[in-house]
Amino acid sequence: MTQEEFVPKAYTNAALEGTVKWKSPSNIALIKYWGKKDNQIPANPSISFTLDACATTTSVTYKKLDSKADNFSFDLFFEGKPKEDFKPKIETFLTRIEAYLPFLKEYHFKIETSNSFPHSSGIASSASGMSALALCFMSLEKKLNPSITTAFFNNKASFLARLGSGSACRSIEGPLVQWGNHKKTEGSTDLFGIKYPNEVHSVFKNYHDTILLVDKGQKQVSSTVGHNLMHNHPFAKERFAQAHTNLNELQTVFKEGNLKRFVEIVESEALTLHAMMMTSMPYFILMKPNTLQIINKIWEFRAINKSNICFTLDAGANVHVLYPENEKQVVYQFIKDELVAYCENEQYLCDRIGLGAKQL
Ligand code: DP6
Repeated sequence: MTQEEFVPKAYTNAALEGTVKWKSPSNIALIKYWGKKDNQIPANPSISFTLDACATTTSVTYKKLDSKADNFSFDLFFEGKPKEDFKPKIETFLTRIEAYLPFLKEYHFKIETSNSFPHSSGIASSASGMSALALCFMSLEKKLNPSITTAFFNNKASFLARLGSGSACRSIEGPLVQWGNHKKTEGSTDLFGIKYPNEVHSVFKNYHDTILLVDKGQKQVSSTVGHNLMHNHPFAKERFAQAHTNLNELQTVFKEGNLKRFVEIVESEALTLHAMMMTSMPYFILMKPNTLQIINKIWEFRAINKSNICFTLDAGANVHVLYPENEKQVVYQFIKDELVAYCENEQYLCDRIGLGAKQL
C-alpha cells in the first residue's frame, strides 16, 4: 500500500452537521520506536500491547461552512474547558493530514476531549488523543463516503494518527499492534499499525499492566526531541538492527509462550531506550531514583518467587509493571505492599491488554 491510496478521489455523500465520538486507548510498546525519518516514518519496527483503561474520549461536532475557509476553524475543549495551549499541536496535525482529508477546511469543528487517567499523571496522552481524533475524522469521512470498508477505515485512521504522533498509530486496534516494515511480518508497513497477524499463546491473554506513577511532572525532554537525537547517534545503526532481531525473537515467544524470554526482551528494550537517551548528544536521563528502586524490587521479587513479573518504561520515569493473568493476585499484593511507596502520592493505574478503540 502507498500513501497515495489514502488520498480520496471523490465523495459521494454530503454531511452538513453532526457529532462523531470515539474512545481510544493508550498503548505500551514492547519493542520500542525511538528514532524516525521524515514524515513520521519509523527508523525501526515496534510492537505494543493495546491498553484498556487508559484512554481518551473525543467528540467532534462538525458544521459545514458556506464556503471553504483559508484556515482550519475549530474550538478545543479539554475536560470541559477551552484549552488554547493544545491548539497549536492540533493545528499542526490538521496541516499534516489535510492532503488525505481534503474536506477539513470546509467545516467548523468543536473538539471536546477528556482522558480517563488523571491530568498531569506523567502518562503521555498523545497516543490515545491523536488516535481518538483521527478516528473521529475518519467517521466524518465515512459519512461522505459510506462505501469505505472497515479494513480501510482502520488502516487510514492509524495512518492519520501516525502523522499526529508515531505511537498513536498503534492505538486503533488490539490486543497487539505492530508498526513498521519487518521482513517476517506479512502486511507490516511503515505507514500504519497492523493487528499482529501471527499466532499468540494464550498466556498473553489478559496480560496486566500496572502503571506506577513515579513522577507526574512534565518531562524535561519531549519525545520529538529524543527521536531527533537518534540522527547521528553513535549507536543508532546497531539499535535499529537490534529492534528487528528482538522482534524476530518476540514472534517466537508469542507463539510458544516462553515468558522467561519475554521478560528478557521486554526489559532489555526498555533499558536500551533509556540507554539511547543517556548516550545521545546532548544526553539526558528520564529515570528517577525511584524508577531504579522499583526495578531492583521487581528483580528481587522475580528471583525469590519464580515470578514472570517484568517492567517496561516509556520516555519518562513511570514504570509499567507487566504480568500474566495467573499471577495477578500475588503480583498485585506485592505492588501494593512494596512498590506503591515509590510512587508520587502513592498513585498508580491498573490496566490490562485491550482490544482497541470504540465508537461511542
Ligand atoms: C518511548 O510517539 O511520543 O513511547 O512520533 O514524536 O509523537 P512522536 O513520538 P512518540 O514516541 C513514543 C516513543 C516511546 C516508545 C514507543 O511507544 O514505541
